[in-house]
Amino acid sequence: LIPDELDEAMIHAVVHGFYDKIRNDELLGPIFNGAIAAEAWPRHLAKMCDFWSATLLRTGRYEGHPLRPHLALPGIGEAHFRRWLSLFRSTVRELCPPDAAALFLDRAMRIAHSFRLAIAFHNGE
Ligand code: HEM
Repeated sequence: LIPDELDEAMIHAVVHGFYDKIRNDELLGPIFNGAIAAEAWPRHLAKMCDFWSATLLRTGRYEGHPLRPHLALPGIGEAHFRRWLSLFRSTVRELCPPDAAALFLDRAMRIAHSFRLAIAFHNGE
């Protein structure tokens, strides 16, 4: 069940808050800023709002292939996923009531896990 307070405005706040942290992070910042040019960030943020809207609210607004670009990033491993999840967790705890934060985090952890397995398989580990 989706908590009432989880709406597009909350998704927008989480996505923007999260990538602010990401872009300033010493481990993940260079990876993201290397893959996404300064002028392409608004488009990336809009895409990520669509992704979370489709994932949590079932709006169908995202119809992409979320895994694909991650397979092309060199040298992404455990430490990167741990940092990604830790920044995501602190963002949702700051911005959402507990129910909504838990739902965001549960979904993020499942997807991160599936990406980690797919990347390891792709790299032949
Ligand atoms: C796109 C990095 C984890 C969801 C991207 C892009 C980068 C990136 C650089 C942009 C690629 C491009 O446009 O060329 C990472 C790193 C991660 C990570 C370094 C962890 C270490 C995740 C997780 C999720 C996620 C856990 C989901 C919960 C997405 C989605 C896109 C994306 C939906 C857009 C894909 C598309 O173009 O349709 N990621 N990501 N990422 N990421 Fe991640």
